[in-house]
Amino acid sequence: MERVFVVGAGFMGAGIAQVAAQAGYAVGLWDERADALSGAMAEIGRSLGRLAAKGRLAEPVDAVLARIQPAAGLGDAANADWVIEAVFEDPGLKKKLFQTLETVIPDTAILASNTSSIPITRLATACRRPERVVGLHFFGPVPLMGVVEVVKAAETSQDVFEKASEFVRSLGKAPLRVTRDIPMFVLNRVFTAAFNEACDLVADGVATPEDVDMGLKLGFGWNAGPFEIADNAGLDTLVRIMSFTGSLSEDRLKPGPGADLIRSMVQEGRLGRKSGRGFYRYENGKKTT
Ligand SMILES: NC(=O)c1ccc[n+]([C@@H]2O[C@H](COP(=O)([O-])OP(=O)(O)OC[C@H]3O[C@@H](n4cnc5c(N)ncnc54)[C@H](O)[C@@H]3O)[C@@H](O)[C@H]2O)c1
Repeated sequence: MERVFVVGAGFMGAGIAQVAAQAGYAVGLWDERADALSGAMAEIGRSLGRLAAKGRLAEPVDAVLARIQPAAGLGDAANADWVIEAVFEDPGLKKKLFQTLETVIPDTAILASNTSSIPITRLATACRRPERVVGLHFFGPVPLMGVVEVVKAAETSQDVFEKASEFVRSLGKAPLRVTRDIPMFVLNRVFTAAFNEACDLVADGVATPEDVDMGLKLGFGWNAGPFEIADNAGLDTLVRIMSFTGSLSEDRLKPGPGADLIRSMVQEGRLGRKSGRGFYRYENGKKTT
């Protein structure tokens, strides 16, 4: 059985660990915060329970859960085949983590980042063996979203790129192959341009977030509106991403005047679904009217 080790047990790391376990991998999950790790295990149990109740789980919940081992530290990555980091969106933090991981993991292991925006090539500069570093950009909630961007950095070997695409298929998801490593890859560039415009319109008082979301769903067939997507992703995570996108050369990707709205919401503790309030209110994780 191949082994997957996930670092960072937040919204994304927990989801990645879950789908890997569902696909039959032995999974190690590590977070530097013990409460994040225990919270992730509880959330994975709840998520598997919901899937089982809908008849969408091939095995009993306990059988899937038994394949996920909360780790005691990064040392537990020593026998991993796949190592996927999903820590905060901070290039310095991710580079330091990659450096440490390379001293622990087997030579044959593939090292992946779930960054939303930072070029993988930049993270790989921290590594002795950049040819085994690849981007695996999942979308949240991971158990429900069907696509993963597979990002080939400047030095990623073709073999690692192919294996990573196959790994994504083994999780039951479609790989979107990004063959040139540019900031924010493909889907976040498209989303960010739309989201920046939506924020500016709301901040300008042209329309409410509810109406923009409603319009994009009914007018363009989106499954969720940009403010619903932002609440799910976590507004604190978006602010971290903005501190990176502000340095990009393309104006359409830079946070516009509407970004101040997001920053002030985060300061007030309105982080989106995870804190019970963002653009919308949530009770027990469910959106209220
Ligand atoms: N939220 C989204 O929708 C989304 C989508 C795609 C990609 N991403 C990316 O995934 C990554 C994680 O995002 P998230 O939304 O899960 O964030 P999150 O805040 O929910 O979780 C991050 C976790 O990383 C842990 N962590 C931080 N430093 C660590 C370290 N040195 N070692 C171990 N654990 C550490 C934190 O304790 C926290 O539990 C980011 O790079 C983000 O840009 C997020």
